Amino acid sequence: MKNILVTGGAGFIGSAFVRHMVANYPDYNIVCYDKLTYAGNVDNLLPVSDEENYRFERGDIADRRAVQHVLEQYAIDTIVNFAAESHVDRSILEPDAFIHTDVVGAYILLDEGRKHGIERFCQVSTDEVYGDIEVGHSVEDDRFLPNSPYAASKAGGELMVRAYHVTYGLDTVITRGSNTYGPYQYPEKLVPFFTTEAMDDRPLPLYGDGEQIRDWLHVDDHARGVDCILHFGRPGEAYNLAGENQRHNINVTRRILDLLGKPQSLIRHVPDREGHDRRYAMTAEKARALGWQRQFDFDRGLEATVRWYQENEWWWRKIKTGDYLEYYKRQYAERLASIR
Ligand code: NAD
Ligand code: TYD
Repeated sequence: MKNILVTGGAGFIGSAFVRHMVANYPDYNIVCYDKLTYAGNVDNLLPVSDEENYRFERGDIADRRAVQHVLEQYAIDTIVNFAAESHVDRSILEPDAFIHTDVVGAYILLDEGRKHGIERFCQVSTDEVYGDIEVGHSVEDDRFLPNSPYAASKAGGELMVRAYHVTYGLDTVITRGSNTYGPYQYPEKLVPFFTTEAMDDRPLPLYGDGEQIRDWLHVDDHARGVDCILHFGRPGEAYNLAGENQRHNINVTRRILDLLGKPQSLIRHVPDREGHDRRYAMTAEKARALGWQRQFDFDRGLEATVRWYQENEWWWRKIKTGDYLEYYKRQYAERLASIR
């Protein structure tokens, strides 16, 4: 393993992985390949932009010719695929881009990677492929019951990875991360959205009763987990990267407000997300057996994260303009108006 293509490396988790790999593996060449959609942001890569073992190429993973070109240009031997449309609410509004990137894009990468003779393909997936789990914990062999267009498209991408391993003998590994939080997360997901809204004393639209449960994982632990599975995962296997930190949304929201010194009265219980999964929960035993262990405790991680958004307004204020405001209106205006 020497020349690693990190797709989606300008996004939230992909950029944490790029920063981690560039700093920890000076002998590897890390090539970030990213389409720079609304969620891709070169600011996330500023800390590594001058490093010798780092390169950036703009491109779409579903563009076969562009993928061929980047694989050849950098003699790529390893692909780590973070590239995805990643937001459930957007997948409910408009699923098209999710099929394009999460399914077709994953297929093109696998196909071109195989033809190019890569040594390993690592697919970054999610606990959402298991669907809603009322009790207990999802383990890697559980069946897929995805409920949102996002989760279904990620499941589709994963199944193609499996097919390329079984049919063509491609060396593949899959990671399934749980809900991730930390610095540089696009402010549409719960933690950065509520944090930055509350900083401006704006209402926090909590879906339904807010009693849904998510399992939270710090982004640096997620990045280290992908590193571990990339190096030590067995070919053809999938590994849960679980935070093993289950929290109700309402409690996460209250904690964010407390950390900011803002009133609980900012919380608004708005009409629920369609098809909303009540609970995700996984065990990380299989990944732990390979030596991965999360390092962040959720309370400490959330406090540091909220502080990061307080100290880095330069990063998120310019995002919350233009198209972002259009999306906000589409997703929340009616919901908030309906409870007034
Ligand atoms: P993100 O939305 O922040 O970033 C996605 C990145 O992919 C962006 O930089 C975007 O420009 C790029 N991209 C999108 N379409 C592309 C295309 N067609 N070609 C090339 N690049 C493209 O997402 P994230 O939260 O960092 O998630 C990264 C991966 O981790 C995704 O595969 C996601 O499914 C998975 N995941 C995310 C979470 C989470 O809580 N955020 C949890 C588990 C798994
Ligand atoms: P999100 O960050 O979108 O991640 P995911 O849907 O992948 O779990 O949402 C986390 C939880 O927070 C989820 O149960 C939905 C809820 N949520 C709200 O209640 N209001 C919001 O505005 C958002 C974005 C999420």
